[in-house]
Amino acid sequence: MAIPESFIDRLVERSDIVDVVSSYVRLSRRGGEYAGLCPFHNERTPSFYVSADRQAYHCFGCGAGGGVIHFIMSIENLGYADAVHFLARRAGMTVPEDERDDELPKLRRRMLELNREAARWFHANLNSEAGRRAAEYLEKRRITMKTAVRFGLGAAPDSWDGLIKAMAEKGYAREELERAGLAVRREGKVYDRFRDRLMFPVIDVRGDVIAFGGRAIGDAEPKYLNSPETPVFSKRRALYGINLAKNTKRSNIILCEGNVDVVTLHQAGFDNAVASMGTSLTVEQTRLISRFCKEIVICYDNDPAGQKATERALEILKNSDFSVRVLKLPDRIENGMAVKCDADDFIKQYGAEAFEKLLKGSGTGMDYKLMALQSRYNLTKDEDRVEYLKSAVEELAGLDSPVEREVYAAKTAQAAGVSLQSVLDEVSRTAGKKRREEKKRHEREALRPERQVQPRERSLKYENVRSAMAEEGVIRLLLRDTSLIDGCELAEEEFTSPFLGRIYGEIRRRAAENRSLSPPAITAPLDAAEASHLTEILEKPEASGESRRALEDYIRVIRRERVLSSSDLAEIVKKMKEEKGGRG
Ligand code: GTP
Ligand code: MN
Repeated sequence: MAIPESFIDRLVERSDIVDVVSSYVRLSRRGGEYAGLCPFHNERTPSFYVSADRQAYHCFGCGAGGGVIHFIMSIENLGYADAVHFLARRAGMTVPEDERDDELPKLRRRMLELNREAARWFHANLNSEAGRRAAEYLEKRRITMKTAVRFGLGAAPDSWDGLIKAMAEKGYAREELERAGLAVRREGKVYDRFRDRLMFPVIDVRGDVIAFGGRAIGDAEPKYLNSPETPVFSKRRALYGINLAKNTKRSNIILCEGNVDVVTLHQAGFDNAVASMGTSLTVEQTRLISRFCKEIVICYDNDPAGQKATERALEILKNSDFSVRVLKLPDRIENGMAVKCDADDFIKQYGAEAFEKLLKGSGTGMDYKLMALQSRYNLTKDEDRVEYLKSAVEELAGLDSPVEREVYAAKTAQAAGVSLQSVLDEVSRTAGKKRREEKKRHEREALRPERQVQPRERSLKYENVRSAMAEEGVIRLLLRDTSLIDGCELAEEEFTSPFLGRIYGEIRRRAAENRSLSPPAITAPLDAAEASHLTEILEKPEASGESRRALEDYIRVIRRERVLSSSDLAEIVKKMKEEKGGRG
């Protein structure tokens, strides 16, 4: 690592985790710790804890955890070095200069400049022969030039090196285009990634061009070619159209599936439309949206894939603070036949006013689920009604608010032709059952030590759980009482968990060099999963009592386990068996 470790130690000391986290999460005191709503997953009750003593955070809901640097890496989506720079700026410290230090921010800046130049070039092509096909295609899709300008749409000409040449004139090397996902290398040759496509620049909230989506003009496969993940583009965090939608005066964000849907909606006056780029909705994207509004309207295609995506999005939004509605597009009529459609198709056939009506009338997420259930049953048949009620009650029992329960219970009762009271009774019975099952599940989990002690991260899995527990104990004790380190004669090689052994080695090395032994200093260089696991280890309670004695006990366990599992022992057992066999 290019940044000196001693600097990291000082930086971590000066970046109080409670302060840092507080600028992202509302924390309130809980005993000796602070608790708040986890910023890394959606929840309604706080399971995110920050400890001032240990300078660590941990979420009991999603398992996220670590020190202050990991927090910044996760929440700001930065790499290690960038997170260090970020915290340094905040703490008013200067990261010691060395040649690699500034590389990533510089590389990102240059990549963003390249992307912007590329977008300019694609866009300019629309007015030349090279972009004629794309311009004609826009016309065919009824996208106006004004809209094309607002979105910075462009044309990738049908050529192997049009962009490469144009960018070379601006001083960008082929390798740079390759790294930015604008060019690809095959069999030693580098050529334009996007050819003969209508180009959609993906622009983030800061106005930077972070990626491109390229739609085939005509029937070429794949229909859309998107930029790969790059140092400036992460698909999970991007939303097409957010650069414009963030300024909307409307009270919600419309989430649709396709880039063309977004463009058409904006053109029709719905400047609050965004799309995730061919992925289902992610928590990161909901967090981004939550900075601008509190209501999301899901408007996916009305085909089976869109319905599935809607259900998945509702799942992601279930315990969020958003109020969620689902806009159901009706089928479109073509040559007297009903065909599936998306927002773009609908607006082109029925116009903006009709869409506005759908938007106003769009039901809540629960309405959507109940309607979806109803469509699966024939409610004129008794058996079907019973089945429908069973599934509906199951959904209703998941609602926390009694008011919401009553509202939807009434709708359910009406649809099935039964009394409201009978539905409500069923719902509270089911909810009670669910609660009891949940409680039992928790208790069972707590009673399964194997499961509890294994690290969440597969790659850290313990081979010998008994020894690993003692190894964890050693680390916990040494960090709580650093005076024990000197006299601890355990060797790193005696650890059965390579990860714990490495931590132990690091503790000894730091002690020998008189460097910081604070948990955040130790977790700082680890990757997120390791940091989270170490934090968890340090959070575990340690029996009170004489710590030197406790340390000796742990060491004894480690050594005994080693003997028991050693190959020598296996040999002995084998020999004994052979002897027995020989005699018999
Ligand atoms: P058209 O109206 O057919 O032009 O497309 P659309 O904008 O309505 O998009 P569609 O609903 O077909 O797809 C939704 C989104 O998924 C697109 O905007 C793309 O981001 C992504 N997508 C679609 N097809 C592909 C594909 O073949 N490959 C990749 N990587 N992404 C795709
Ligand atoms: Mn479409």
